[in-house]
Amino acid sequence: MLFISAILFITIFNVESIEVSNNVCSIPSDFRFDCNPDDPSNKETCESRGCCWYPNKDDNGSPKCFFPTNYQGYVIKGIENRKNGVTVRLTRNSSSGLPQDVSNVNLEVIGLDNERVRIRFVDADASRFEVPMPFLNVSQSTINSPLYSIKINRDTGNLQVSRQSTGTSIFNVDLSKLIYANQFIQLSSLLVNNFLYGLGEHKDTFRKTIDGWKRYTLFAGGTNPTENINLYASYPFYLMIEPDNQAHGVFLLNSNAMDIITQPAPAITWRTIGGILDFFIFLGPTAPQVIRQNVNLIGRPVMQPYWSLGFHLCRYDYKSTNKTRETFFRNIQAGIPIETQWNDIDYMDRYNDFTVDPVNFAGLSDFVNELHSMRLHYVLIMDAGVSGSEPPGSYPPLDDGKKDDIFIKNKSGEIFLGRVWNFETTAFPDFTNPATLNYWTKQFIDLKNQVDYDGVWIDMNEPYNFHQIMPCPNNSYEYPPYTPGIQPLNNNTICMSCKQHGGLHYDVHSLFGLLETVATYEAVKNITGIRPFILSRSTFPSQGHYGSHWSGDIRSTWDFMKYSISNMLEFNIYGIPMIGSDICGFAGNTTEQLCMRWSSLGAFYPFSRNHNDFDTIEQDPVALGPKVVAATKYAVNLRYRLLPYLYTLFHEAHTKGDTVARPIFFEFPLDVNTYSIETSFMWGSGILIVPILEPDTKTVNAYFPEGFWYDFESLKLSVKSTGRYENITIDDDKIGVYARGGSIIPGYLVTAMSIADLSELPGYLFIFLDSSGQASGSWFSDDGQSIENIQNGEYTYSHCKASLNKISCDYENVFTANNFKIGGIMLVGVDKKPTSVLFNGTQIDSYFYSDENHALKIDSTEVFERLQSFNVDLSYN
Ligand code: NOJ
Repeated sequence: MLFISAILFITIFNVESIEVSNNVCSIPSDFRFDCNPDDPSNKETCESRGCCWYPNKDDNGSPKCFFPTNYQGYVIKGIENRKNGVTVRLTRNSSSGLPQDVSNVNLEVIGLDNERVRIRFVDADASRFEVPMPFLNVSQSTINSPLYSIKINRDTGNLQVSRQSTGTSIFNVDLSKLIYANQFIQLSSLLVNNFLYGLGEHKDTFRKTIDGWKRYTLFAGGTNPTENINLYASYPFYLMIEPDNQAHGVFLLNSNAMDIITQPAPAITWRTIGGILDFFIFLGPTAPQVIRQNVNLIGRPVMQPYWSLGFHLCRYDYKSTNKTRETFFRNIQAGIPIETQWNDIDYMDRYNDFTVDPVNFAGLSDFVNELHSMRLHYVLIMDAGVSGSEPPGSYPPLDDGKKDDIFIKNKSGEIFLGRVWNFETTAFPDFTNPATLNYWTKQFIDLKNQVDYDGVWIDMNEPYNFHQIMPCPNNSYEYPPYTPGIQPLNNNTICMSCKQHGGLHYDVHSLFGLLETVATYEAVKNITGIRPFILSRSTFPSQGHYGSHWSGDIRSTWDFMKYSISNMLEFNIYGIPMIGSDICGFAGNTTEQLCMRWSSLGAFYPFSRNHNDFDTIEQDPVALGPKVVAATKYAVNLRYRLLPYLYTLFHEAHTKGDTVARPIFFEFPLDVNTYSIETSFMWGSGILIVPILEPDTKTVNAYFPEGFWYDFESLKLSVKSTGRYENITIDDDKIGVYARGGSIIPGYLVTAMSIADLSELPGYLFIFLDSSGQASGSWFSDDGQSIENIQNGEYTYSHCKASLNKISCDYENVFTANNFKIGGIMLVGVDKKPTSVLFNGTQIDSYFYSDENHALKIDSTEVFERLQSFNVDLSYN
């Protein structure tokens, strides 16, 4: 039987027999898939599962016990058509050896649109836990020219999703080797290339290695970033570049603890201990399109308040309002624009959420009011749990939580108590419970009456627990048949058998940070009516739709400074463009030189904050001395001059799902040299940032993709590249910031001490001509804080084109109360002074040409401020 679905191009071949080699175990080690990853793994267990046992041959990480070629765990019992897809009925043929095999699995293959396929494996006879996503756009649209074709081979059990145009196989699984037991689900797929990115959150490079065998454990954990340890978030998503430079992505929607294993075949194995398998395959075909498809599914990034793009200063343990104030002012006096001052847990009374230390932090409210009078901002921290041991009537966060019944319970139904910073015990609000939002909002209202905060930093929300006060029971949720690389699962968190409104903690653990972010976002939005800024340590797909993230407790080392770039690029592909690391490092003492270079780099994190640990030296720029002050000023000033551009990138992330900080290969997809570069990066398509990441050097060998690259500060054409490495010198207090020929960058000629002040300056369009004398770009602006301003038409969005002879901007929408107003144009890459400049047909004289940097500056605040589509005609005799 040959069935071809006209819509989906689903082809189901009925092949008579499968070819197997004489020896069903003679499989090259790179292609072996683990049949006995659980304990005990031994010959007897292995062979009882019908698998091959080769213990001595492979010490390279390949499994000792692997599936033979003729393994038939599940067989296809039937295939039925459904809207835009098929349901394949799978039945277990032989025991997997894991407890509680699911006998009948329905495989649902659904085309969502031309670019996205969803593949779900569900228990045909019973319902299982599915992730309660706060946002998931699975709406289907017309499929008229799918980028994919899907083939299912009834006899071999092979399921393949391929790229229609090239035949490249993107998802290639052997259904007969699926394991689907109650607490163990495993599926493997062959990959087509070794350019793989994603699978976070780990202390790792951006590009993942597939040369060896590697296990990525995904389960929210609060351990300080360390190689091969599961960190704060679970992102079962990867992006892959195909051999012909096209790209695809695969996202597994599953929140249970899991291992994802890569192996040199190349191949990937997903091994989760609960939920269902729910894959989304994105066909791109470019990497930025894959990210848009992913992000449109899980929720495009929320628009950040404009002020949050300023420079932030924080530390753990200022110990008092006075010290916070002193640190803030000494940096302001040194000329460093600090848009936002922060406080860590030391502002609280005995580390209890929603309280303020009445002694050491007396006057905090006045200090915050003072910041506001300077048009600056304030953010404070909130821990995941509230004190569980305050006397009744003395601490509303506990009393209200009991009354509203919103705390997480243990197996016996008592409020689960752990121990975080609170002196005695900690109770954790259950953010899977819709009733928690009211409770949480009330606490934030009470806090607002104490301190007029602008943003909230939510921490320890994996959730972290220093130790068990209520021991966890001994059952299969705490100690499942297979435990991914976390021993035990309840290590430094709450017990897996705790009960939550949305299910067992075992299932919802990794969602804590996301759901707390959603509740905090909603609470702050309801209280203030303007855009909330919410920074969270733990995240899950969809986080970017509500908040932001930083890379947690990294160490003050050169190695971690490098890692901050890969982390930033990675969270951009997860749809969380508001991302950065603690500038100069969090743990351990920083050094002058490290902090100097890190301050330069950190000014180009989308989220830019200097923060450090309680037991380290002071690390605000002034404390580190004049070199760090100079580097910070230089880089933050450049950042501020570029803020209208950065804000435009955030708008494009918000409306289209684009990245803000991005790997160079997103812009140069045909240049394979760029695929592994993660020591420099781009802001949007137009700015290349080249930091110094090594000690004791002023030079770096940096890659410049094909094109013209202008130094943004001097406006000089620095590199005309055909795609090559260049040795460049970067002085101590500098960083390489290059504008790409062909871009139009909205920005400023000078900077200011606050974003409010900056917004009053005349803005400029910096036009950098490419080798053919052309450029284009857009700019977006609004009031920087309204929530529904796009729906209400309260924004300006303009698209500009330029050549040597003509500059024109069309306004898609015009609004007056903007934070960016054009006062002039800087046309860069012009060889001589024009003899006439016409603005909308009228001659103007206010232009200046610099022979030195070949730039033409046209000033005309008055005319540009009218904010209408305009043309500038230039002639040269
Ligand atoms: C852990 C956070 O990651 C860190 O940034 C913070 O300073 C400490 N908790 C104390 O709140």
